[in-house]
Amino acid sequence: MAETDVDLVILGGGSGGYACALRAAELGMSVVLIDKAELGGTCLHRGCIPTKALLHAGEVADLARESEQFGVQASLHGVDAAGVRKYQEGVVSRLYKGLQGLVKGRGIQFVTGEGRLVSPAAVQVGDTTYTGKHVVLATGSAARTLPGLEVDGDRVLFSDHALKLDRVPASVIVLGGGVIGVEFASIWKSFGSDVTIVEALPHLVPLEDESSCKLLERAFRRRGITFKLGARFAGVEHTDQGVRVSLEDGETLEAELLLVAVGRGPVSADLGYEEVGVAVDRGFVKVDAYCQTNVPTISAVGDLIATPQLAHVGFGEGILVAERLAGLPVVPIDYAGVPRVTYSEPEVASVGLTEAQAVEKYGAEQVKTLTLDLAANGKSQILKTAGAVKLVQEKDGPVVGVHMVGSRVGELLAEAQLIYNWEALPSEVAQLIHAHPTQSEAVGEAHLALAGKPLHTHS
Ligand code: NAI
Repeated sequence: MAETDVDLVILGGGSGGYACALRAAELGMSVVLIDKAELGGTCLHRGCIPTKALLHAGEVADLARESEQFGVQASLHGVDAAGVRKYQEGVVSRLYKGLQGLVKGRGIQFVTGEGRLVSPAAVQVGDTTYTGKHVVLATGSAARTLPGLEVDGDRVLFSDHALKLDRVPASVIVLGGGVIGVEFASIWKSFGSDVTIVEALPHLVPLEDESSCKLLERAFRRRGITFKLGARFAGVEHTDQGVRVSLEDGETLEAELLLVAVGRGPVSADLGYEEVGVAVDRGFVKVDAYCQTNVPTISAVGDLIATPQLAHVGFGEGILVAERLAGLPVVPIDYAGVPRVTYSEPEVASVGLTEAQAVEKYGAEQVKTLTLDLAANGKSQILKTAGAVKLVQEKDGPVVGVHMVGSRVGELLAEAQLIYNWEALPSEVAQLIHAHPTQSEAVGEAHLALAGKPLHTHS
């Protein structure tokens, strides 16, 4: 049996694992990074990147279809699923090559194979044991299904299958109106499918501020995306053409495909974690605010721990662990300050507290909100997008939440997150001049209005 000794052994080469590897190597540590599949993980190969390429292709289709609105006579002849896939794979493969180059360039040893934690300091892959002064667990998450709902990858799909589809389906039922459900509903509608979302809670993207949910629902209604809210799944059966889904209230829906998007769960079973003594709760590896497990030599990052399942959270946690192990001063992550985007058309973007969370934290009397309709924003009118920027303020204090809906508003989060994380007062942001005409002006003007000096809106 071969033995390799290094400073750091990382199990899982997705966003959390590879960010940790890159930063640790930068800080002079010797690193082994292990993954059973490709370097880059879910985000690069089966998640964030390919889905955003599909959303962009959908935007191109929508623009062609709606070009008359802009006085341009283009027409949409169809969506070539193979062509879209080629474009999507091209984007992924360029980023993949770049990432491989980075990992190699920093002297990180990448090992392909199924790893298993065998001691507080070692991971075994086949006949080789990789021992580190420290081990980082970063095995990520996988799509979950419901009891009795079998995902066959043919008519009943997870997002992984949907990404590999060789055709545009005529109709789809999307189970779950969370982030994945809403993004795929948006993609398929843009490509020309009939789409129905089934969501158990009273709103789409139910974790967002209620005003954002309602704006998204209004936009989806206008786009002809059907959704059933407060609707619980009861069962599915195959038909000649596809699937028949029944809901608990007795209603049945038929479509060519069913996408199951009811959440993702941690990948922690049968990897040796519990045998080595790592504390696990409902599958999530338990960590403190510094991503340290109960075993002193083991840390864990990314979707494997019970923090927001976002690639950029994985990056942040990976960097935090590498810096802590290198002896640098680190501070815990404020997860409320992490930006969140649902990249559908329109986009839903937020940072900080929702109004309901702020009321719970400060009391209703101490919370002030302001909503700026994008109707008042020139660039949004040029793009013909509807939506709003909503600010949540601790009365006479800083802005504690920013919630936005509209095309491209995800790009406005860079400023919103600085405002939240620097605890800016509305009057301080109001002093900053925003470029005209940009959508970022909507953020500036919302703060002008909250500071009591509205420009293009009524007071
Ligand atoms: P999710 O937790 O966001 O949404 C799942 C939805 O399914 C919930 O709204 C839930 O109420 C609903 N649901 C659960 N059981 C149901 C039932 N029996 N019938 C009807 N509805 C039911 O999970 P999702 O969308 O699968 O995404 C998984 C993770 O991946 C999320 O944590 C998300 O943050 C992350 N992700 C993030 C993206 C982004 O940042 N843009 C993109 C894609 C995924």
